[in-house]
Amino acid sequence: MSTKQSNGFMGWIDDRLPVTQTYEKHMSKYYAPKNFNFWYFFGVLSMLMLVNQILSGIWLTMNFVPSQEAAFASVEYIMRDVPYGWIIRYMHSTGATFFFIAVYLHMMRALMYGSYQKPRELIWLFGMFIYLALMAEAFMGYVLPWGQMSYWGAQVIISLFSVLPYGNELTEWIRGDFLISGATLNRFFALHVVAVPLVIVMLVVLHLLALHEVGSNNPDGVDIKKLKDENGKPLDGVPFHPYYTVHDMVGIVVFLMVFCTVMFFFPEGGGFMLEYANFEPANGLKTPAHIAPVWYFGCFYAILRAVPDKVFGVIGMAGAIAVLFVLPWLDRSPVRSWRYKGWISKIFIIVFAFDFVLLTWLGTQPATEKLTLVAQVASVIYFAFFLLMPFYTRMEKTKPVPERVTGGH
Ligand code: HEM
Repeated sequence: MSTKQSNGFMGWIDDRLPVTQTYEKHMSKYYAPKNFNFWYFFGVLSMLMLVNQILSGIWLTMNFVPSQEAAFASVEYIMRDVPYGWIIRYMHSTGATFFFIAVYLHMMRALMYGSYQKPRELIWLFGMFIYLALMAEAFMGYVLPWGQMSYWGAQVIISLFSVLPYGNELTEWIRGDFLISGATLNRFFALHVVAVPLVIVMLVVLHLLALHEVGSNNPDGVDIKKLKDENGKPLDGVPFHPYYTVHDMVGIVVFLMVFCTVMFFFPEGGGFMLEYANFEPANGLKTPAHIAPVWYFGCFYAILRAVPDKVFGVIGMAGAIAVLFVLPWLDRSPVRSWRYKGWISKIFIIVFAFDFVLLTWLGTQPATEKLTLVAQVASVIYFAFFLLMPFYTRMEKTKPVPERVTGGH
C-alpha cells in the first residue's frame, strides 16, 4: 500500500492495487538514457507488431476453419467474401514479416551495443526464449492455410526431429498421425492461436521487468546510474514518459508508413512473404519442385542444407540458434558498445550482419552446387564470429569509455 495520502477515485484504487505506483515505476519515473538512437525504436516496434498479430489473428479466427477439408477454402473466403477480410489477412501475413524485421534489428542493436552483457544477461535470455517461441509460432501459422508450401514446409521441418533418439515415434507424436493430416492442422491451430501467443506475452512481460530492474543500456554502453543529481536522478537519464513515449511515436509512424506500403502494394513480397506455391491447396502426393521456407527462417535453413549429412545438418542448425543463448558469456570485452571495442570486433560485427543476410537469402534459393559452397563458407563465418569471440574480445585493444553519454538531446 502506498504511504501517500490517497484521495479520490485513483486513491481508492491505489489503496487496493498499486496502479499509480506501477505506472510511475515503469513510465513516468523510469529513467532511460538520453542518448537513445534509431536502433532503440525496435523494442517498441516489436511490441506494436505483437499487438497487430494478436488483433488481426483474433479477427481471422472468426472466419478461418481449422480442418483439412475447409482450411484452404476458408482463407479464400476471407480474402474474397468476408468484408475487409483481405486487409485483416494481409495485416497478419505482412505483420509476420515486419515482426521479424523489427526483432532482427532489435537483436542487432543488442549485438552492437553489448546490451546482453552483465547485468543484462537475463533480458537477453528472455529475448532468446521469445525468439524461439516466435519461430515456432510463425512456423505453425504458416501451416494453417493448408497450401502446398504449408504442407511440404511442415513435412521438412517435422522430419528434422527424426534424427533424435526415438525419432519416428517423436515425429508421429508431433503430427498426431502417420502423415501430416487434419490432426496436425488442428493441434497447430490450438498452439498457434492460444498456447504460444500466451507464452510470448508472458515472456515479453518478464523481458521488460528484467529490463526495468537493471535499467536500459545505451549506444555508449555507459552505466547512467553511476552519476546522479542531488535528487538521485541519473544525470544522463530522462523519464520514459513523456520523453520516449513521444519520441517513439516518430518511429511508429514511419514504420507504419513502410508497413502499409508493403501491405497494400506488395503483400506477397515477391514470393518471399507469401510463397506462390501456397496459392495451391496442399497435396500430399505432389511434391513442389523447390521447397523453401519464408525468408525469416532462411539463415538457419541455409546452415541445415550446407551440411551434407542430415544429422550433422540438424546439429549445425540447432547449434546456430543455441550459440546465441550463450552470447553473454562469449563476449569477454571490458567494454560494452562496439564504439569502444577494438577493430576486430567492429569488423566481425559488420561481417556477421552481411553474413546473416546472405545466409537468409541463400535459404530461400534452390541449393545448386555453387550456392551450397557459398552457404558452407557463410556458415563457417557465422560460427567463427561466436566461437572466436572469447579470444578476440580479450585480445584486442579497447578505447576508453567516457564518464557521460555522448550525443543525446
Ligand atoms: C516480441 C519480441 C520482443 C519485444 C516486444 C521486445 C521488447 C523490448 C523492449 C520494449 C525493450 C526496451 C526498448 C528497447 O531497448 O528497444 C527491449 C529491450 C531489450 N531486448 Fe527485447 N523484445 C523482444 C525480443 C527480443 C529478442 C528476440 C532479444 C534478443 C534475443 C531481445 C533483447 C533485448 C535486449 C538485450 C534489450 C535491452 C536493450 C538495451 O537496454 O540496450 N529482445 N525489448
